[in-house]
Amino acid sequence: MPDDRWVSTTMGSDQGEVRDTIISEGPGRGGPGNWGQGEGGSQRAKVRIAATADVHCTKGSSGRIEALFGSVHERADVLVLCGDLTDHGTQDEAVLLARELTHVRIPVVAVLGNHDHEAGTPEKVADTLSEAGVQVLDGEAVEVNGVGFAGVKGFLGGFGRGTLGFWGETAVKAFVQAAIDEALKLEHALAHLQTDQRVVLMHYAPIDTTCEGERKEIYPYLGCSRLEEPLMRAPVDVVFHGHAHKGSLTGQTAQGIPVFNVAMPLLLGSGSEVPYMLYEL
Ligand SMILES: [Fe+2]
Ligand SMILES: [Fe+2]
Repeated sequence: MPDDRWVSTTMGSDQGEVRDTIISEGPGRGGPGNWGQGEGGSQRAKVRIAATADVHCTKGSSGRIEALFGSVHERADVLVLCGDLTDHGTQDEAVLLARELTHVRIPVVAVLGNHDHEAGTPEKVADTLSEAGVQVLDGEAVEVNGVGFAGVKGFLGGFGRGTLGFWGETAVKAFVQAAIDEALKLEHALAHLQTDQRVVLMHYAPIDTTCEGERKEIYPYLGCSRLEEPLMRAPVDVVFHGHAHKGSLTGQTAQGIPVFNVAMPLLLGSGSEVPYMLYEL
């Protein structure tokens, strides 16, 4: 575990229950206009983040999402959803998810994942969720209770020396450019944050450590080191991602920024009592 701000809710953990040394009053739901503005500085009360990913809402998920997150306000001040919100990116799934998320009483910040693109209309998924008060980030940033959140979907392409290079066929260059564009969007989003504390959410993994557990053959499809580059140039406190359902919970960037794979199947498979990771800043 790279740092102690991760509040373990793992069954049987000696870290026990959520700490009671916090917290500010949650800002209450109601869309971007009701999101507390930051005070900045060291006097700001800590913010509890509930982070998860890969909810994969289907047409048959009615009641499931509400059951998963209906009481998250008792533990956290903001819910972070790191993509694959829907299973196939259809309008039916998006509408159902949006309806379920209206039961969440705290701000919800999200990015889309590859599954949200499957139907070819990711903008409709984003719009539907936005109309329900979810802050969907795609190269943008938002501030909640004084903490900044920057989000992108990210892209694939491999890690380290295995990262696919911008060379050869036009199709390969277009593929690599998609990853570069996502990295630039993240850099742009981070540049717009003025907060002391900054959280990054993305769907794909920026490092390979949090992919460990998946088959090595599919690592290049789980994320890309290009997504780590903006994290080297802007102060970031923590990164959350999903996508690697069978990966590892924790890792860190080359510069020591904690990275958490919060794919819900991974969290629940690791014994978490709740379908999200709790982190306080
Ligand atoms: Fe997924
Ligand atoms: Fe995914």
